[in-house]
Amino acid sequence: MKVKHPKKARTTATDNLRKVIDAQADTGISPLVSQKTITTQSGEPSYTPRQEKITKLKEAVGLTQEYTNEIISELNIINEEVTITRDYADAIIRTVRGPLLVLNKDLRIISANEAFYNAFKVALNDTENRLLYDLGNRQWDIPKLRVLLEEILPEKNTIEDFVVEHDFKDIGQKTMLLNARTLQQGPDKTSLILLAIEDITERQQLEQQKDEFVSIASHELKTPITSVKAYTQILGQRFRKAGDNKSVELVEKMDSQLDKLTSLIGDLLDITKIEAGRILFHESHFNFNELVEETIEELQRTTEKHRITKELQPGVTVYGDCDRLGQVLTNFMTNAIKYSPHADKIIVRTVVDKSNVTLCVQDFGVGLSQGDQARVFERFYRVGGPDQATYPGLGLGLYIAAEIIKRHKGRVWVESKKTKGSTFCFSLPMTKQKK
Ligand SMILES: Nc1ncnc2c1ncn2[C@@H]1O[C@H](COP(=O)(O)OP(=O)(O)OP(=O)(O)O)[C@@H](O)[C@H]1O
Ligand SMILES: [Mg+2]
Repeated sequence: MKVKHPKKARTTATDNLRKVIDAQADTGISPLVSQKTITTQSGEPSYTPRQEKITKLKEAVGLTQEYTNEIISELNIINEEVTITRDYADAIIRTVRGPLLVLNKDLRIISANEAFYNAFKVALNDTENRLLYDLGNRQWDIPKLRVLLEEILPEKNTIEDFVVEHDFKDIGQKTMLLNARTLQQGPDKTSLILLAIEDITERQQLEQQKDEFVSIASHELKTPITSVKAYTQILGQRFRKAGDNKSVELVEKMDSQLDKLTSLIGDLLDITKIEAGRILFHESHFNFNELVEETIEELQRTTEKHRITKELQPGVTVYGDCDRLGQVLTNFMTNAIKYSPHADKIIVRTVVDKSNVTLCVQDFGVGLSQGDQARVFERFYRVGGPDQATYPGLGLGLYIAAEIIKRHKGRVWVESKKTKGSTFCFSLPMTKQKK
């Protein structure tokens, strides 16, 4: 893009004007009016009004020329800046490793980077100025992409991580992650679209393989652990009969470690099921308070330091998967115990409002910063820092809990203050929801 500046035209016009005025001033004669010099009383010559006018005009032309020169030099600077900015933008587009397209508002390609040409096996001549959908035998005419560019983008101006799968003629089946943004450019605010295309086919395949591996490994681990657990129980009974209390205590510790291992394997299996959309729910109406009370009782046994108190609204029945919701409660409560090593109180509350029940588990432990509160429900997210290294875990519990609640059409959240404690809550519709 070049900025045309009217330097030459303007200087010639002002120069000509100046020449005419100079000539008239020098002669002081106009073909129509004869010039007279007026002498003042002191004898000093005074100029006629015409000469004065001409002098003023000359000054004005001088000023205009200066002004014009200033404008011209500013235009030159702007021109340079535009060139620098354009080169800068070009360099960014060329440097980006992923394919990137610049489109105009009619979806014609203004430019594409090397990565685009390499990844999608198209040539520059067959790309620039073409309609996106016409590229490479119309292989970019993808219905989902049309919806994205023609409906969603004009409304939102930016699109993040939109997944599109497509079978391309030359490069085969691809899964792409699209990010797009509209830019308003120039005084007439013409729209440009920046479209970044990330090929995530390989990454997705690797993820799938990893999930399959974790799933198979977890399954295979479950069987021997079940047998070891059975042997532990037999040993426990024998030691008890023989009155060997020290050994009974050791075997009980072994048994509780086996429970932890089983729950860990269960979490890994759940993750792979969630990722593959294979997690199944067995839903029915059940007594919610009973579930809460049973879970409290069970977890109270695992801690001597904490006293778990309950403030439950009576008679709550919920439609959902009792075991899975129990899993959520267990996770909230084990976290409350684990992350409040110096506190001695945990409170479990329920509140019923219209058609929803809300359950909160409050602890007075290490608490969470604002930033961590926003991320604890992410997969594998664990708070960093020297203190955290001492708490065991995979960072899966809350992610699984959030997925279970989501599937029950509910929501989860946390309120917390660092060093003061946290309150983890979920809220659920109590009645059956339409799928
Ligand atoms: N009650 C709490 N107080 C403070 N931090 C918490 C609390 N609950 C969870 N967290 C933080 O959130 C992170 C994620 O919790 P999550 O339950 O998902 O994983 P985890 O407890 O580390 O491991 P696991 O997979 O065994 O549950 C934890 O590592 C911890 O840093
Ligand atoms: Mg946990």
